Amino acid sequence: MRQLKVIEILAEQKLLQEVKVSGWIRSFRNGRFIALNDGSTINNLQCVIEDDVLNKETLDRLNTAASITIIGILKESEGQGQRVELEVKKLSIEGDANAEEVKKTILSPKKHSLELLREQAHLRIRTNTFGAIMRVRSKLSFAVHQYFQQKKFQLVHTPIITSSDAEGAGETFKVSHLDFDKVPKNEEGKTDFNKDFFGKQTNLTVSGQLEGETYAMGLGDIYTFGPTFRAENSNTSRHLAEFWMIEPEMAFCDLDKNMDVAEDFIKFVVNYILEHSKDDLAFLEKRLLDEEKQKPLEQRSDMPLREKLAFVTENNFKRVSYTEAIDILKKSKPNKNKKFKYPVDQWGVDLQSEHERYLVEKHFKCPVILFNYPANIKAFYMRLNDDGKTVRAMDILFPGIGEIVGGSQREERLEVLKDKMKTLKIDQEELYWYLDTRRFGTCIHSGFGLGFERLVLFVTGMSNVRDVIPYPRTPGNAEF
Ligand code: 4AD
Ligand code: MG
Repeated sequence: MRQLKVIEILAEQKLLQEVKVSGWIRSFRNGRFIALNDGSTINNLQCVIEDDVLNKETLDRLNTAASITIIGILKESEGQGQRVELEVKKLSIEGDANAEEVKKTILSPKKHSLELLREQAHLRIRTNTFGAIMRVRSKLSFAVHQYFQQKKFQLVHTPIITSSDAEGAGETFKVSHLDFDKVPKNEEGKTDFNKDFFGKQTNLTVSGQLEGETYAMGLGDIYTFGPTFRAENSNTSRHLAEFWMIEPEMAFCDLDKNMDVAEDFIKFVVNYILEHSKDDLAFLEKRLLDEEKQKPLEQRSDMPLREKLAFVTENNFKRVSYTEAIDILKKSKPNKNKKFKYPVDQWGVDLQSEHERYLVEKHFKCPVILFNYPANIKAFYMRLNDDGKTVRAMDILFPGIGEIVGGSQREERLEVLKDKMKTLKIDQEELYWYLDTRRFGTCIHSGFGLGFERLVLFVTGMSNVRDVIPYPRTPGNAEF
């Protein structure tokens, strides 16, 4: 007997064979038709129960959400909406689901708000929307590895626990083994981290970049794909305290090539989903369309999801220097009419997401790569330009998302890097290992970080990062 997944059965050419399948009941109607889903596809398998095949007791237990195993005969479907269906020969109930209890949860077959789904995050994977999102997320992860492996990058597992704050923003979660009620003190009356597990103060990583750079200095081209943690207190639809980041790092690579790789990479993975997640995308596109209908006309997006994705794969990202961007923003209507919360009045200001979205959504109407930012709004490791005031940084901005990628060419010159660290009061002794890469065979090198949830957001057409990761961690919320 062949045990098959629903996705395999729906694609099966050979009819009249006997197959076995397990899954959860999505609905049971007319005492005859089960819509069965096993998570392998957005599409349900219709299972038909002829008279006298099952006894009344079993029929009564066929509630939505119950799990069952069926042995049946694959037949051409007489009904509309599916090519094949399964004629039930044997059915066993693996796990019951009480109908009254089910009604109180998001498993009940009606439309529930995304907010309610978030509160029942352990059950939402049984809904069409989350099944589709999580299958796309899984395929996207695979595409990420496929892209870099085929380009001869090596995957590096950088540490999760570290003593460095790569971005220098001080937004780290501390890792400690100390008893919080009896914290040991040193002579100065401060916490004595010598007595802590690692003998020093440690935190969860905010980025694998610094360690990634040391590995690129031996393996050539590397990438990381792991969880990163940031204690930024930003309660937005784009920020998570725990998110997954992809960070390639390339030796002998300058900023221009870095931008080329980032653009090519994004196009590859988006294209991969267009080709490999057709049913899920069709579903998500329709979901988005329904959602857009609730919005006022002027806020609706004019492109269906798949067109939006194709647009990104088919068109060049617009490359614009920070200085050009500031000029555009200064002269822009919302700036003149004081519509920006943060007015753009001079060169050197940091760009806020309202500015990034204006550039992408209103001005250029395509993905934008901004480069050569002012040195003092960017991290210490970025390569100083000859003008002495800008660095070889680049951010990729996406419609509906804002910043999706942040990257740079790295400062490869030991003395320049040390000066910069001195100015920013970054401990050189602590980061001696990072400086060593500049002492022993330094070279021009570059890399970037792509926030995986922001990519999933874009590809699925969802609008809140909390809805594209199984269990979102945000300020005040670490449930499940
Ligand atoms: O711009 P960021 O902070 O850059 C870095 O961490 C560099 N070390 C990357 C590198 O050059 N190797 O973060 C990179 C990306 C952002 O563009 C954004 O997509 C995502 O990570 N990101 C977040 N995603 C979700 N929640 C957050 N709190 C995020 N912070 C950054
Ligand atoms: Mg950034």
